[in-house]
Amino acid sequence: MNPKQLIGEEATKYVKEGMIVGLGTGSTAYFAIMKIGEMVKNGLHIKGVPTSKSTEELAISLNIPLLPIEDVVKIDVTIDGADEFDARKNLVKGGGAALLREKIIASVTEFYVIIADAAKGSDYLGDFAVPVEVTPFGKEITIFQLKALGCVPKLRYKDDELLVTDNQNYIVDCKFYKIENPAELSVKMNAIPGVVENGLFANMANVIISEDGKGSTLKIG
Ligand code: 5RP
Repeated sequence: MNPKQLIGEEATKYVKEGMIVGLGTGSTAYFAIMKIGEMVKNGLHIKGVPTSKSTEELAISLNIPLLPIEDVVKIDVTIDGADEFDARKNLVKGGGAALLREKIIASVTEFYVIIADAAKGSDYLGDFAVPVEVTPFGKEITIFQLKALGCVPKLRYKDDELLVTDNQNYIVDCKFYKIENPAELSVKMNAIPGVVENGLFANMANVIISEDGKGSTLKIG
């Protein structure tokens, strides 16, 4: 089985009858959502909370009942992917530009399950440039201020156009190379007025499900 499918389906073991479930974004979360769609078809009652417009469309196509974000105060379990993780379960997320909704949903999640293949693990975060969602207004100032924190910033483009997020903002990918203290760096980035949110998820994941390269799942946490 494709490793993404293996770990995506493994994560759905945390989903139980009656739960409110955060639905992640990306090619690994896709397999978890497909499995949840199958579980719903087979009689499971849950309510989903999607972390992006694309996930919302996928969930609707699978007839997974969704809870309007206005009605959400607590989520039982969220299953989401990550771009990089360390042994302390700190994460870089936002490769799919959904980091703001992902972090809002993670912040009210009781049990946060991350699914990421083993190649995304490292001793220190920083291999993957940290995606930062910024307001269009004053983006040059914000980029200048991000650079002052020690990164090489790059505005993200898609198909030769500036990428616009689900929240009508832009993404700046910030290459730090080695992040010693993700929690501290996250606070510093969010203190910049034009930063809406950053893709460092420090001390949020409860478990990371990965695979060993031989077809078995591995759990951190
Ligand atoms: C989207 C994300 C994704 O979870 C992350 O990019 C991982 O995606 P994939 O499973 O496709 O590698 O943070 O904003």
